[in-house]
Amino acid sequence: MTRPDGPDAAAGGPGLDQREEATRIVAKGLEAVAAARSLDELKALQGELVGKRSSLAGLGRTLGGLEPEARRRLGAELQEARSRLEAAIDSRRSLLELSERAAALESDRLDLTEVLGGSSRGHLHLLTQTRDELEDVFIGMGYRVAEGPEVEDDWHNFEALNLPAAHPARGMWDTLYLDQGESESILLRTHTSPVQIRVMQTQPPPIRIVAPGRVFRRDTPDARHLSTFHQIEGLVIDRGITLGDLAGTIESFTSAYFGPGMHSRLRPSYFPFTEPSGEFEVTCPICAGSGCRTCTGTGWIELGGCGMVHPNVLGAVGLDPEEWSGFAFGFGIDRCAQVRHQVPDMRVFLDNDLRLLTQF
Ligand code: PHE
Repeated sequence: MTRPDGPDAAAGGPGLDQREEATRIVAKGLEAVAAARSLDELKALQGELVGKRSSLAGLGRTLGGLEPEARRRLGAELQEARSRLEAAIDSRRSLLELSERAAALESDRLDLTEVLGGSSRGHLHLLTQTRDELEDVFIGMGYRVAEGPEVEDDWHNFEALNLPAAHPARGMWDTLYLDQGESESILLRTHTSPVQIRVMQTQPPPIRIVAPGRVFRRDTPDARHLSTFHQIEGLVIDRGITLGDLAGTIESFTSAYFGPGMHSRLRPSYFPFTEPSGEFEVTCPICAGSGCRTCTGTGWIELGGCGMVHPNVLGAVGLDPEEWSGFAFGFGIDRCAQVRHQVPDMRVFLDNDLRLLTQF
């Protein structure tokens, strides 16, 4: 229905009023769409501009009252207005989606570079530092670093080391066996000595290696023992190696690692894979050898075992004991760190307590 006094009657004919109105709606609408700051805002705007209750839809409802020609023109114009607004809304939506996604990604980003203050950048654990320093001392003496697996077989861990099945000395190592293969055939290595075997099997003498690594024992931890701990093994094989070479090597190592004035001594002992065997001790760093509670008044602290490689061990890897001889030693890395830094209880090495970690 057109109003008799309406602009329909003016130049441009019926429907002009609505067409001008549509033009205004589009112009204002485009402005509002461009200014929409969020997807929510845009959604509300979409309802207002092209929804059922929009002014545009209101204009559409006036079509019925127009003459066919005016209806056609206004109809086309409203259609055009609608598509322009919808296109603008669509492109604004893509833009807002992109930037909202970017903002979400930015706010979800994990910042792993947090710096809490001067000294809180991580550093290597004391045991790792100790291992590195020990390696360095031996590398300086011409050794190479070797490795072996933590899961071993009975042959490498015992048998080839002159410890046949049921050998009474197997009791020296409380062993953790894995439930694999034949019963008690696969185990967590109880010492780093099986690396001696693996090295001799794969490279011809002369051999000069150290093998640091983790070892495992079925033991109850206390202040001086852990059930998972670390050893460093040494092995030298060549022609004419003597006990004197062993003693000299241990002494050089002791002063290089613990410092000048620190000495070592060997005491007779027993290991199935060395003959003769010894335990080596170093000057007690707490009392500098004068005797204290830690060294039970002796002035010496025991560090590890050593000896001349047993002919049966050389035989097990196919080396002729008449031609080759050598020495081996093995000691605890954890024990070394404990002695050198006077840590009263070794169990703190596994606690990850910052009060300890930040001290070293
Ligand atoms: N493997 C011995 C142990 O665990 C130490 C050792 C190594 C002794 C090499 C002699 C020679 O206790």
